[in-house]
Amino acid sequence: MSMTERHKKLEKNITLLSVGVFLTVAIGGIVEIAPLFWIDNTIEKVEGMRPYTPLEQAGRDIYVREGCYLCHSQMVRPFRDEVERYGHYSLAAESMYDHPFQWGSKRTGPDLARVGNRYSDEWHVRHLKEPTSVVPTSIMPSYSFLADTDLKLKDPSANLTALKRVGVPYTDEMVEKAADDLKLQADPFGNAADLQTRYPKAQVRDFDGDPKRVTEMDALVAYLQMLGTLVDVNSAAAQEELAQEKGR
Ligand code: HEC
Repeated sequence: MSMTERHKKLEKNITLLSVGVFLTVAIGGIVEIAPLFWIDNTIEKVEGMRPYTPLEQAGRDIYVREGCYLCHSQMVRPFRDEVERYGHYSLAAESMYDHPFQWGSKRTGPDLARVGNRYSDEWHVRHLKEPTSVVPTSIMPSYSFLADTDLKLKDPSANLTALKRVGVPYTDEMVEKAADDLKLQADPFGNAADLQTRYPKAQVRDFDGDPKRVTEMDALVAYLQMLGTLVDVNSAAAQEELAQEKGR
């Protein structure tokens, strides 16, 4: 019996065909899915990525609460127009500690994945209070109340603990010092050397122009100023890791 003859049998018998289809799809599925259960991580590690500081994380929670993601994405795609406008395309590792991730699916405003250090704190504060004061044609809503609202977190340690449970590598020390670290990062007169060894590249200063209190504006601006600044995408090490990623 030739190959086509044998195949005819399969095509004419619906039961046999169903069993054949099932087996083929099952094998394909196992080959694709099973390895994921045995490897620890599907994301290539990249130097510089670290868990967010308690203040950045608090800012991130405000970002989510206010629905900024409804108008802003946080993922620069590897297309020339995007890279020229926003900077280096986003690496998977750069959102590995995001719970929930903020890639977004709508860009009414620009992508924010690399907005950190692009503007001054003053610009952000003015923009968030009254967007048209710095971008006259802006349709972004005003969030001026953030500057008048004290940042109230019942228990910053609990926030980090929750994230730790879903896999963010906060150490016991980070969890223990969360409340102090949160205040310290927004304190222009504090000694933040310790904080910066726990969280390299943490930017420490008064973010909202009012050093007397820690407001929701402090937290949100601290978060925005950190976005896209942790991984030095243009460094030699990062390039090497990128090359490896491509060569895989
Ligand atoms: C209704 C849609 C909308 C919402 C909601 C929104 N924005 Fe915007 N955003 C825009 C638009 C449009 C622009 C571009 C014009 C401008 O700069 O104001 C923008 C610009 C920005 C920029 C400047 C980006 C750049 O590269 O120039 C930042 C930062 C920003 N938004 C942050 C936020 C944050 C934080 C929130 C949530 C508190 C937020 N936006 C909510 C529409 C929105």
